[in-house]
Amino acid sequence: MADSVTTEDFRDQFLRDVLAGLTAPEKSLPCKYFYDEAGSKLFERICELPEYYPTRTERAILADNAEAIAAACGRGGALIEPGAGSGEKTRLLLKAIAPAVFVPIDISADYLRAVASEIAADFPKTEVVPVAADFTGPMTLPESLSGLTPRTLFFPGSTIGNFTPGRATELLRGWSELVGGGGRMLIGVDLVKSAEQLEAAYDDAAGVTAEFNVNLLRRINRELDADLDVDAFRHRAVFDAETSRVEMHLVSLREQKAVIGGRKVDFAEGESVHTENSHKYTPESFAGIASDAGLRVERIWTDADRLFSVQLLRVV
Ligand code: TRP
Repeated sequence: MADSVTTEDFRDQFLRDVLAGLTAPEKSLPCKYFYDEAGSKLFERICELPEYYPTRTERAILADNAEAIAAACGRGGALIEPGAGSGEKTRLLLKAIAPAVFVPIDISADYLRAVASEIAADFPKTEVVPVAADFTGPMTLPESLSGLTPRTLFFPGSTIGNFTPGRATELLRGWSELVGGGGRMLIGVDLVKSAEQLEAAYDDAAGVTAEFNVNLLRRINRELDADLDVDAFRHRAVFDAETSRVEMHLVSLREQKAVIGGRKVDFAEGESVHTENSHKYTPESFAGIASDAGLRVERIWTDADRLFSVQLLRVV
């Protein structure tokens, strides 16, 4: 019963968001809807693509510097991960920091349960305290964490780059309360590089990223009784130097009409639906975000080619 209500609410919200985005003068779709089951599987494939350097580079930075990172964060205490993963990056940190408590935070209670039990099984000395919440909203940590230090929040994957600089600043400022005064955040930040390399990372030769983007339209068809002609849209990834971000779009190849949840939506030939941004930073520009959020950059770890950075921020 509770589940079916949640499902209905989700569908209503999804439909409202889609219609709002597709009837605006500049069409867009919220990127949070990328990750249905098919989308999550495609994203896993993106992470292994030769052109998509962020995942493997960040993993290597963490692996090569795990001891130094743990020493800088402080061992024991609490490790908090918004948008929790059970993958190798989290495990590298859990092994090095050996926190007393690990707090995975995720909006999907099912996913969270799976992560929590896998981690608990492999790290018996760490207590796993999952929190089911939308990490972009206000959150409170369980009572059992009170007084526990040091606290480190881990936010890998350049996910911070999927928010505008203003929203990224707000998120970091909000999270300061979770880690408290003197608390730290370890953030995966992708770095500015050539437009060629950036655009290839978001428009790979095998077409997996294109498929990931188009899957959003397929999902709308599946879940919202829509009849979008998905083959009449083309994936487009472009680096905009002005805003320092890779923008992802779905471009309509012809004039077309669709019906979505009973509402008509028109697309002109060449009209673009903006689906995602991935902001790229320099060490200086990200230091500005940190400082606006009331944080100081304590250390930066990077790879030999300076493709990606793992930045340790401290609440001042
Ligand atoms: N945080 C990832 C990034 O900005 C998300 C991502 C990677 C992504 N590839 C994508 C999102 C392709 C949409 C499409 O790099």
